Amino acid sequence: MKVGFLLAGLAGVVAACAQTQPTTLRGAAAPIPLLVSAAADASDESPDPLTSDPAYSSTLAAEYNMLEPENAMKWAGLHPNPPGSANEYNFGPADELVRFAQANNMLVRGHNLLWHAYNPTWLTSGGYSSAQLYTILQNHITTVVNHYKSQVFAWDVVNEALDDNTGGLRDSIWYDQPGIGLTGTGYIEQAFQWAHAADPSALLFYNEYSIEDQYCYLGVSSGDGTKFPALYAMMADFVARGVPVNGVGFQMHIDAAGCPTTAVLTEHIQKITALGLAVHITEMDVKIPDTSTASLQAQAQTYQRILNICLQNPGCTAFQTWGFTDSHTWLPTGFPLPFDSNDQPKPAFRAMLSALNAAQPPPASACTYSLDRTAVAVSGAGGAAPVAVTTWPACLWNVAGLPDWISAPAAGKGAAIAALTVAANSGAARSATITVAGASVTVTQDAACSYTVGTLSDGFSLAGGSATIPVTAGSGCPWSASSTLDWVTFSGPSSGSGNGSVSIQAAPDAGAARSGVITVAGHAVTISEGALRFVPVTPCRVADTRNPSGPFGGPAMTAASMRSFTIPESGCGIPATAQAYSLNVTVVPPGPLSYLTLWPAGQPQPLVSTLNSFQGLVVANAAIVPAGDGGAVSVFVTHPTHVILDINGYFDSPSGSAYSFYPVSPCRVADTRGAEGPFGGPAMTAGESRDFAIPSSGCSIAGVPAAYSLNVTAVPAGYLGYLTTWPAGEAQPPVSTLNSWTGKVVANAALVPAGNSGSVSVYVSNPSNVVLDINGYFGRFGEPGALSFYPVTPCRVADTRSGSGPLGAPILEAQTSRSFPIPSGGCGIPATAAAYSMNVTVVPDGILPYLTAWPTGSPQPLVSTLNSFDGTVTANAALIPAGDNGAVSIYVAGRTHVILDIDGYFAP
Ligand code: XIL
Repeated sequence: MKVGFLLAGLAGVVAACAQTQPTTLRGAAAPIPLLVSAAADASDESPDPLTSDPAYSSTLAAEYNMLEPENAMKWAGLHPNPPGSANEYNFGPADELVRFAQANNMLVRGHNLLWHAYNPTWLTSGGYSSAQLYTILQNHITTVVNHYKSQVFAWDVVNEALDDNTGGLRDSIWYDQPGIGLTGTGYIEQAFQWAHAADPSALLFYNEYSIEDQYCYLGVSSGDGTKFPALYAMMADFVARGVPVNGVGFQMHIDAAGCPTTAVLTEHIQKITALGLAVHITEMDVKIPDTSTASLQAQAQTYQRILNICLQNPGCTAFQTWGFTDSHTWLPTGFPLPFDSNDQPKPAFRAMLSALNAAQPPPASACTYSLDRTAVAVSGAGGAAPVAVTTWPACLWNVAGLPDWISAPAAGKGAAIAALTVAANSGAARSATITVAGASVTVTQDAACSYTVGTLSDGFSLAGGSATIPVTAGSGCPWSASSTLDWVTFSGPSSGSGNGSVSIQAAPDAGAARSGVITVAGHAVTISEGALRFVPVTPCRVADTRNPSGPFGGPAMTAASMRSFTIPESGCGIPATAQAYSLNVTVVPPGPLSYLTLWPAGQPQPLVSTLNSFQGLVVANAAIVPAGDGGAVSVFVTHPTHVILDINGYFDSPSGSAYSFYPVSPCRVADTRGAEGPFGGPAMTAGESRDFAIPSSGCSIAGVPAAYSLNVTAVPAGYLGYLTTWPAGEAQPPVSTLNSWTGKVVANAALVPAGNSGSVSVYVSNPSNVVLDINGYFGRFGEPGALSFYPVTPCRVADTRSGSGPLGAPILEAQTSRSFPIPSGGCGIPATAAAYSMNVTVVPDGILPYLTAWPTGSPQPLVSTLNSFDGTVTANAALIPAGDNGAVSIYVAGRTHVILDIDGYFAP
């Protein structure tokens, strides 16, 4: 057992200040620190001076930081009646002393639990058997120690058990008259065990007299006598066997004639502390024959000499006199205490005070130190790395050799924690060996904390749900998760350290699809509900009104008519669960067609145009349109026309065959007008089909695409009946991506599945150059930047012909560009949108060689979104990444009005 107590509670009474030396014993003792104490009689005198004599009690409180009852805790005081009696115990006077001590910030030392003397008559004359005495003693110790648990910090458990002369044990009721039935020191050991069981934090002492220097008293010049060797053997045995003993009390009832000698007392204290036990001087008084100056001086010198012996050994932690004033001493003669019979300080008092004030820290060699660890491992996050130092209260120690990443108080005193603090690591693992209280301590720290956070394998349906997000972190590396989304909560702990996981709960979504980001260990994790993914379809003809009559055939549409097409019922295998379609709409009008509008069936017809054919020519345009009632889409035309619907994919809830959108800053993949090569010339000839291996083009496509979002531009030599795009390796489908019957440059958007080796096939019916620009691709969910689709009923977000402001008039002048802040339009597009599906319509003021759309803030790319070489109204679909603040930039090579209709957006 360790004796590492601190002078808890005494720090507040340190009276020392820089200029003046303390004038009280406790003031002078505090910085050492040393317990200075007196026994106070609270039971044998009537009235009790502690309560009846203010001068007595105020001197005690002023001078001492510890107090011990001279008699009140002895058997006769505490236990006046036999077991079973109504008033078996009498705690009153001792409780009073404890209250006084607590009120004056003094520790209480308990005296004593087992003694041959001062026992009540019921005990000594009771004729109890050993078995009865065993139980009586056990009950007494248990009851008393428990009564004063955490109030009495140290107990004299056994008092004066050694015989004066033989080196054996004194005859007593507890040992052999008849004893409690244990042989040798067994009864002593048993008393310590019972006391320890009742209050494991109390310090337990064996208290004895004539162990200071017995030969000196006997007039023998040197030697140990019989008592100290017996004491030492018993203590060494107890320590070796782990008996809960913490110290030895040296009573020190002496005179001023020179005994004990400095040498022998010093050696005896040293031998005890070397066992790891504390020493308390417990009952010192110094008899003198008279109060002559010489006697008082000799007495003062004796007190000072013994106190200095104690001060020189840091294991001597308390110095107590048996009473403090000659007006209250157990000795009938001898003027033995530091205050006189008028309670005035004597030379002895002044000698003790000056010894305390002159006390130097004990030399390090007199101190022993032990650490609770010599290796400390800290996580990359750093933090506290406490090392407990055990030593005597007065012993000083240092912390040295700190690298810049470890901080700690440079010094400490007594048993305390060396509070090392390790800074967070920002690099590789590291270690340092430092010195704490003279011993080496190796501090090792893991490399900087890093965190890997899993993504959700998928989004949630509109019904919401729960999921677990794994966190991988170095051991001890702390992390936390937070959500600012009111529909995403944590269903378990939202913080931890090291490897772990976060469980989330997404509430059901009663409205439209939504997505947001929560933060887990510093990483953004996207949570989405009802988000849609793209399922590419090899281009397939849904409807053609030139065919015989039927739901997907004739007749042709008449002027100002509307017709709905229930796409899941067509022959293209589109499921009823599809939420939006990627279509290519072609008109074959007999004459001018102002516009065609495509929208989800069952909803009000929106004021948007999907395409225009003011010259009555065949015109094709891509369009993404939400599925309406029963999965149908509605078509309105202003003038008579045939209508052809080709589908190249649809958007549906996440599934194995559905893909996320990854926008790409617009980039030219191929241009057959350029130098010969796989992505260049020559021009395509009539009836030629050619494969373009898009992944090996100069446009860096990071992932593994399942489909491309392309803008296809034809620069025909003359009449171009049609151009078809489809996944390479599959049969060419009978659909048209675009047409140019006037031979003018025509552009159209197309979502084309990736074929063999990621290639896309292009067919032209007539000679033409072909330009392919890419603005995104569809691939597996889970790569950084994956986006889902959120369809919007077609909505006009900008029109430079009307209104004003960033989304209204005026017209765009030739060779100018303008940024359109899409989220601030009236179409409810959130700021989280990362790309838009739009239909761009131009109403040019003459020839418009080309229009380019790109994300605001990025450099203008060399691509054309649409062309109107004949200066007619032209519409073209485009997927455009959102730029700064969600804006899209548009450059026009000629003067034109611009109309932007939005049919959906992509967001996390
Ligand atoms: C003494 C008290 O001072 C007296 O008042 C009482 O009458 C008897 O006991 N060793 C001890 C103390 O351990 O308990 C004794 O105290 C003195 C000797």
